[in-house]
Amino acid sequence: MNIDLLSIFFTGKEKMEKILIIDFGSQVTQLIARRVRESGVYCEIQPFNKVNIDTIKDFNPKGIILSGGPQSVYEENSPKITRQIFDLGLPIFGICYGQQLMCQELGGSVESGFSGSGEFGKTKIKIKKDCILFKNLWNVGDETIVWMSHKDKVVSIPQGFEVLAVSDGAPYAIIANEEKKFYSVQFHPEVTHTPQGKELISAFLKNVCKCSCNWTMDEFRKNAIAKIRKQVGDKKVICGLSGGVDSSVVAVLLNEAIGDQLTCIFVDHGMLRHKEAEQVVEMFTNHYDINLIHTQSQDLFLNSLKGISDPEQKRKIIGKLFIDVFVEEAKKVGGAKFLAQGTLYPDVIESVSFTNQEVVIKSHHNVGGLPETLNMDLVEPLRELFKDEVRLLGAELGLPAQFIERHPFPGPGLAIRIPGEITKEKCDILRKADNVYLQQIKKHGLYNDIWQAFAVLLPVRTVGVMGDARTYDYVCAIRAVTSLDGMSADVYPFGHEFLTETTNLIINQVRGINRVVYDYTSKPAGTIEWE
Ligand code: XMP
Repeated sequence: MNIDLLSIFFTGKEKMEKILIIDFGSQVTQLIARRVRESGVYCEIQPFNKVNIDTIKDFNPKGIILSGGPQSVYEENSPKITRQIFDLGLPIFGICYGQQLMCQELGGSVESGFSGSGEFGKTKIKIKKDCILFKNLWNVGDETIVWMSHKDKVVSIPQGFEVLAVSDGAPYAIIANEEKKFYSVQFHPEVTHTPQGKELISAFLKNVCKCSCNWTMDEFRKNAIAKIRKQVGDKKVICGLSGGVDSSVVAVLLNEAIGDQLTCIFVDHGMLRHKEAEQVVEMFTNHYDINLIHTQSQDLFLNSLKGISDPEQKRKIIGKLFIDVFVEEAKKVGGAKFLAQGTLYPDVIESVSFTNQEVVIKSHHNVGGLPETLNMDLVEPLRELFKDEVRLLGAELGLPAQFIERHPFPGPGLAIRIPGEITKEKCDILRKADNVYLQQIKKHGLYNDIWQAFAVLLPVRTVGVMGDARTYDYVCAIRAVTSLDGMSADVYPFGHEFLTETTNLIINQVRGINRVVYDYTSKPAGTIEWE
């Protein structure tokens, strides 16, 4: 984490309540951060091997949460944290591995549950003792469902600790040293399978850390604007605008902070969706009066993609051209010292990885290379936010729902939704089909239940019959997935009627398509895009 940026962000930080989450490699550490922020407290995740007692003191949290993790605390080289954190006088909440680590460090012991006593899945726990953590949540004798996922377990607790809740398989489901404000749970309160998990985390923040839980988007907005002004001064800033949520929010926020010093560049590569360019231009020039350069690079991109079928080559060509066009336009603005980007918190978090293997599935998901090429300093006002917080900020800034709720759209656009060679004719056909499909989804009120929905134009023609005539046209695939972060995805289960109606509409309204298929592949095994 860039300390300079942080210190600017925390102007007036003495007031700001923060929680530190130390990550030991759990798959769901980000969910802990989500729950903390949903409770109205700002928090950050730091990998266990990047924090030390000085960085913690400097961060000045109201409390610390130790995440779960895949390893066993008694294994050599398992993730550890300096024992000194237990002497800071701060409330600490350990989750699963975090509980086991806390116990081991403070004199308890942990054993492998391989003997068959591990617990996985929904489990009932019973409250054994009232405490400040449970205030307004549970009383002695209450039972609640939690999500367990552990093979190891605590077998003896450190001195000064007491049992607050038990399950059949875990005698130490919740334990605490109340005097020191150390609490820990064997289960995962951060996942939705623990129905009262969010309340439990919230209770830790309110009852134990004494947080006032008033971190809001309004506060974030004011801080972010002050921070942008301080960083930028009277210099010019350039911002790449795609019409997606992140860049739209960055542009509007910067406009509010520095007005005319901002110029947005919208590279139109000709592979955008139906009427997308018009909507972006209308919103940012007419509604917001932002300096906007809308390039007309359609022919340049399409000509360069002639004869190219390989997905990775398409991406590389588009990525390079994008940079060329952007840089040329940026130079025309003249004297700009800063480049604004919609980097989000999940891109910034350094995750703890226990494998060294990285397999490249798709070469780039964002246009890399811009900052180096332009030699500008970065302005990244969304660095601290999760995606749905960006949407909240967008709403706070008055951006219309159409921009805030928009499904993600890949940088290379329709190019990676037309397997094989791209032509203008194919782009036009796909744009129409995609639009019919999206209008259908909106008409049925399904848009916000779906992470991403789009049409794909297959490089296959099949025989059909329309009226009395034979047709030989393209196949269109439609795809809709639900997802939390795009890393994995499930197929959206449309009903039979929706699919029939949509198929008919596409075939009737889009010349060039005579067959529609529905992609029923989850991720994994498929990726969300077809290329
Ligand atoms: P995949 O297809 O990898 O997609 O399952 C995951 C998410 O990433 C988006 N995506 C891209 N975004 N440039 C982008 O800016 C790309 O080259 C790219 N490829 C995939 C995809 O739309 C989904 O949201």
